[in-house]
Amino acid sequence: MHGTVAISGAKNACLPILAATLLSDDKSVIDNVPKLRDMSTMLKILRNFGAKVDQDQDVIKIEPNGYEGYKAPYELVSTMRASVCVLGPLVAKHGRAEVSFPGGCIIGPRPIDIHLKGLRALGVKIKIERGYIIADGTKMRGSHIYLGGHFGSSVLGTANIMMAATLTKGVTIIENAACEPEVADLAAFLMKMGAKIKGHGTPRVIIEGVKRLRGAKHSVIPDRIEAGTYALAAAITKGDITLKNAKLEHIIAFADKLTESGLSIKRVPNGLRVKYVKRLKPTDITTLPYPGFPTDMQAQCMSLMTVTGGISVITEKIYPERFIHISELSRMGADIILEGPSAIIKGVQSLSGAPVMASDLRASAALVLAGLVAKGRTEVHRLYHLDRGYENIVEKLQSLGAKVWREREK
Ligand code: EPZ
Repeated sequence: MHGTVAISGAKNACLPILAATLLSDDKSVIDNVPKLRDMSTMLKILRNFGAKVDQDQDVIKIEPNGYEGYKAPYELVSTMRASVCVLGPLVAKHGRAEVSFPGGCIIGPRPIDIHLKGLRALGVKIKIERGYIIADGTKMRGSHIYLGGHFGSSVLGTANIMMAATLTKGVTIIENAACEPEVADLAAFLMKMGAKIKGHGTPRVIIEGVKRLRGAKHSVIPDRIEAGTYALAAAITKGDITLKNAKLEHIIAFADKLTESGLSIKRVPNGLRVKYVKRLKPTDITTLPYPGFPTDMQAQCMSLMTVTGGISVITEKIYPERFIHISELSRMGADIILEGPSAIIKGVQSLSGAPVMASDLRASAALVLAGLVAKGRTEVHRLYHLDRGYENIVEKLQSLGAKVWREREK
């Protein structure tokens, strides 16, 4: 595959940023918003609170002025876990929130104890009733909080507590904060709203509460996971793809591994050029919180490893059960053994196209990547997962030379 692809705004930065607009009564304008199913879900939640939402291409204007709602219902939250990040803004702004418990998902159990621990440390009283988190934030105050769990920092947990602390009297210090670029982008937006934040993008974030936040304009950072996925499309098809807008510093661990393996990844004006230059070597990957190797790139890397000669190993340290894609890749002829949280991948000569079932967002992308090089035709079913996170994926792949199209599910 050859050509240039424009990387869209980051889904995982945009979701908490949209939630953060609830912290003000004024209008906020967010641009570089990707057109994705998850974005529509978040907008439905905001409208459900009475916010006025106006969307024109990749620009969204949100006016929460005078909204009444404080309840995020099960029907909306159950379709997208990121909905839980309305909890912090609601409780800080209105002193109360009722948000459906998000539950687990196909990539494994996804608890929210870290979110709740952080909110409790800020003085929020929390009850779980009828599957809802009922939060009373009438007596909140700044606090010194350690925000870690079994698997390290929490991205949305940090986002939630940071948002709540912006309007909470006193100073809040978050230790072991998530350092992901999406969290730093949220902080950048909050600061434009008037929040006082220091240390964002590092494990120690300091927030001094203010009385009021104003509306703000913000342009969302490019999606590093989408960028990585197209980089892998170049690698797996022995191609040459320029990723417009992509930032090397956001995918540094990924670029390090792929470069070690033999791929060429170079900065070009306004993006990155990814080129297959020689036979790739097998490699080993361990997923870790940022700046470590992202779990959201694990499945897609596995697809590349299935056709890379030699033995590669992936160890999943964030979601040890995030391996549903193995059985589908095996249906295409991949040779993979799962040993606890590690997958051992023996590269095969070629994959063979087959009907496969997408189980989650990144697993879907992995199957599409595998389909790009498999002999014959690959049908990826349950495409709605893919539409949650990849804007215009079919059109983008086609423009790079892939033979791919969308058919209505029979
Ligand atoms: C974010 O989810 C992303 N989602 C995920 O991307 C991503 O996989 C994940 O971060 C890790 O990078 C969004 O940003 C919308 P975590 P989040 O809290 O914040 C455990 C994708 O494909 N944990 O950082 O929910 C948790 O089980 C999605 O785009 C607790 O134990 O993830 C996991 O093992 C999927 N208790 C680890 O921490 C908690 O209260 C990291 O999770 C919270 C998390």
